[in-house]
Amino acid sequence: MKKTLRPSARVRSNAESGLAEPLQQVDRTSVLHRGRKLAYFAGCDYFRLASHPDVLKAIHCGLDERGLNVAASRKTTGNHPLYQELENDLARFFDVESALTVSNGYLSNMAVAQALAGDFQHILVDERAHGSVLDAVAMLGVPVSIFAHRDVDAARKLVSQLLKRSSRRSKLLLATDGLFSHSGEVAPLDKYLEQLPSNVTLLVDDAHGAGTLGKLGRGTPEHLGLKPQPRLIHTITLSKAFGVYGGAILGPEELRRRIIAWSRLFAGNTPLPLPLVSGVIAALKIVREDSKLRRRLYFNTSYIKAALRAAGTPVNDGPGPIIPLQPRNGTHVARLKRNLINTGVHPPYINYLGGPKDGYFRFVVSSEHTAEQLDALVHALTKK
Ligand SMILES: Cc1ncc(COP(=O)(O)O)c(C=O)c1O
Repeated sequence: MKKTLRPSARVRSNAESGLAEPLQQVDRTSVLHRGRKLAYFAGCDYFRLASHPDVLKAIHCGLDERGLNVAASRKTTGNHPLYQELENDLARFFDVESALTVSNGYLSNMAVAQALAGDFQHILVDERAHGSVLDAVAMLGVPVSIFAHRDVDAARKLVSQLLKRSSRRSKLLLATDGLFSHSGEVAPLDKYLEQLPSNVTLLVDDAHGAGTLGKLGRGTPEHLGLKPQPRLIHTITLSKAFGVYGGAILGPEELRRRIIAWSRLFAGNTPLPLPLVSGVIAALKIVREDSKLRRRLYFNTSYIKAALRAAGTPVNDGPGPIIPLQPRNGTHVARLKRNLINTGVHPPYINYLGGPKDGYFRFVVSSEHTAEQLDALVHALTKK
């Protein structure tokens, strides 16, 4: 007999719904957790621009001046001049030939895949790449091989096998995150470019590196000393370091032209709401002009990592503000959660794409955490 769900039985708890427990922010670095105000070391609003007064003002004014939505594709009647203004700003900020915005970061990888379909004979993808990268490469319609996480030798061997099997002139695409969201590790993009033959192009999803890494905030390529080049396609989100919403593809003008011409997703999707475009323009200006933001983020991250290391807790040595912690067992999870809450810190125990399948703690530092909050986190994590 077919079972029907009574409405009251549909969702008994958040755990059953598959969603996390609802959480409300009370200020830029704290949340309300079961009635208590706790320091918040999670999310990806690295500079807290989602609540920056200049960003909010730009969004409010944008809404008043232009309304919410163009309600049409940019290939029909929805191509407002503000989109081009943002794309010019993005291209200047990231020092690339061109930028193209899409509705979010997840879709930016797919738009690239649709535009490049037919160009590559084989794809290689890092085993821990973000779901949006995996979904995008699956759309290219050619075989995909997974290689060991950040393993340059494994990628090199795979490339040489693939080229032996097919023609030496085959074109390959290597897809990876720039700064990995689950671990805060940096992909060895410089080594991929150095050690792999020139017929391998890199697709780098730098959702987390954009804005946070590199002297000017241009992301993982800048952090690794790489200049924009034809072998490097770079996608970003506008919802993390830039605090607003949206995605963008950065690269040669030819790539932008091809996405506009061939991506069904680009053609058939309503672009970003205009007030959000104004918000991103304001956020970019802040990140460009306030170099102290990045210095504070780096200082706060280094402070926590050094304190944890001094207490014997292993942490990644990358520059990224993501600090994962894998508990040994259920008892350890419960003890850490208790220590964190008792010390006034929200326990960010999560299960997320690319991370360990049983869950882990993922702490994220922002430029805006106070010294007291940083010390509270270190204290909770090092308490025996
Ligand atoms: C590595 C990575 N790529 C892409 C995305 C998707 O970006 P958006 O949230 O703008 O769709 C995320 C997370 O949100 C991410 O962590």
